[in-house]
Amino acid sequence: MSSPAVPPTCVYRRSGIHDAALRRGYEACRRATRATGEIEYAVSLLLPPPLRIATWALYGAVRAVDDLADAVGPDGAADPGRAGRLEAWIAAFDADLRAGRGSDPVRQALIHTMLTWNLPPGFLHTLFEELRQDVHGRRFATWQEWRRYNSLINTPLVLRAGSLLLRAAGVSAEPEAIAAHVPDVAVLWQTAVEAIYLTDALVDLSDDLGRGHVPLPQEALDEAGVCRADLLARRATPEFEGLARRLAEQARTWLDRMALPPVLHPAVGVALGAYTGLYRLRLKAAADAPAALLHRRPALPRGARLRLLLPARAKAALSWGLFPFPVQPCPPEPAPAETPDGPEEARLQAARRRPVVPPPPHPSGARPPRLPAEAMPRHVAIVMDGNGRWATARGLPRTDGHRRGVEALVDVVHGALEIGLEHLTLYAFSTENWKRPADELQTLMYEIPQVVHRLVTEKVDVRVRWAGTPSRLPADVVEKLLDAERETRDHTGLTLTMCVNYGGRAEITAAAAKLAQEAVAGRVDPGSLSEHAFARCLHVPELPDVDLLVRTGGDQRTSNFLPWQATYAELLFLDIPWPAVDRRTLWDAMEQYARRTRRYGSVARIPAQASPLSGRGAPTT
Ligand code: IPE
Ligand code: IPE
Ligand code: MG
Repeated sequence: MSSPAVPPTCVYRRSGIHDAALRRGYEACRRATRATGEIEYAVSLLLPPPLRIATWALYGAVRAVDDLADAVGPDGAADPGRAGRLEAWIAAFDADLRAGRGSDPVRQALIHTMLTWNLPPGFLHTLFEELRQDVHGRRFATWQEWRRYNSLINTPLVLRAGSLLLRAAGVSAEPEAIAAHVPDVAVLWQTAVEAIYLTDALVDLSDDLGRGHVPLPQEALDEAGVCRADLLARRATPEFEGLARRLAEQARTWLDRMALPPVLHPAVGVALGAYTGLYRLRLKAAADAPAALLHRRPALPRGARLRLLLPARAKAALSWGLFPFPVQPCPPEPAPAETPDGPEEARLQAARRRPVVPPPPHPSGARPPRLPAEAMPRHVAIVMDGNGRWATARGLPRTDGHRRGVEALVDVVHGALEIGLEHLTLYAFSTENWKRPADELQTLMYEIPQVVHRLVTEKVDVRVRWAGTPSRLPADVVEKLLDAERETRDHTGLTLTMCVNYGGRAEITAAAAKLAQEAVAGRVDPGSLSEHAFARCLHVPELPDVDLLVRTGGDQRTSNFLPWQATYAELLFLDIPWPAVDRRTLWDAMEQYARRTRRYGSVARIPAQASPLSGRGAPTT
């Protein structure tokens, strides 16, 4: 856990943000958070880097849009161009979200955070809608109206931050989903947000009055005998002072009712404790000098602030040290840079710049068969099975089978490169494999990232992709898989998709959930959903259909492997256990494939092999 003194560059590095433009976006959000959200900024520093920058992006970006809606001109009156600028920002945000990249630094950071943490965009659209109304001036007649506004603008934003904090406890459900099942919790959270909003209404009163806006319900003013005109003229009356004290007391009571989520990482408990503690200080500062609220925002008392924050920092650092942040955020695939010739050309150009080496030949000197282009499978997927039985048959521990399996994997990848295969997908660890004994899990969790790293350092022309889910995987495994994806993304030879913690049903369920969210947000029409649109929500959307699915080890089942992508795959079950496999097994399998006939439901002969396999190169063994 970094201390607040850690420079932002280090925080970005630890969050995996290497792109200079993206860092600039996060920096702009950080500065906006520090300038306008003293408490939020102080609390963000108690969080580990990936969560910290996400907090800045959410808070900073919302402030940036809010400022557009509230803009005043040089004369202090409402800026007439603000509605147009707000609309332009919202339209650009929608376009950027579709493209997966921001066209200005703040939007870039916001979109990066939303995609990394898979935050549903619906809350922002609701918030934008309310800000559109703000442009035309807003008055709250009743507490009910004030509450409604709060529930549309502030609650969802606070809950998004809450959703990020829940991830630290391994809970990936959105807070709304939790609240839906526990209505009492929903009410208490709403009350806590109201406490914060009411506090901010008091401390920001002077700024709001400057824009001609009274952030309190008319009903509250009437009840206290406060005249709106007096308030706008910043006239301190005993009635106003009484009202301010009562509202501060009210907010404190609401804050006291705050219910913490049921499962908490200890450091998150510390951060939330610091957050409410600082808000109590803010309330006290407001209640101590109510008349001053009409002229300036009260400062947090420095001594009390430090007395609260210093132990919180120490406790948070200790807790993150003892229980490191368990979730590895999943950054979006960076959109390729535009060049005059388009993104694909940019990727190819980059690939040309990176040196790649040819794969080493097989020790036997075997060369790949030459298959006619039309008989070549584009995508071969393999269930690498039989490691354990291979080892047991030799009186070795099963873990030795996995170690030998790694050698088979590397050789098969070299063979795939030699024969010019486009896609090779390997089933390395299934979501069901967690049922295995601890020593086997430990070996697999060590060997899998190791072999991926080995392929990267070999500098062969392999682009690594990972299909699977991060949940339950050790953070360093996730990190190494993502590093490999990043480091090899410009390679154009073989695409090697490693299925690690992969389950076909889980993949389809996750895609369905994603689409359901999109539908709720109004961005997808459920009535016209295509298979193509569905496939875009799978772990690796670009993965083509499997042409040939091979399973070694003698069993004839697919064990939850690529159910969507392999619906029309040719199946080939081999008795050979995986550790005994080498590149020649792959080549043989591809030759067998080339002799098959694929019909795809039709009667016409759609040849996997159009011509007899004559005129081949050297024999395969
Ligand atoms: C495949 O080999 C490797 C993994 C499932 C990770 P097994 O370990 O399943 O080997 P057998 O099927 O028990 O022989
Ligand atoms: C499938 O093999 C998973 C991998 C090869 C990674 P399993 O050995 O786990 O499959 P079942 O349990 O025998 O079906
Ligand atoms: Mg097995």
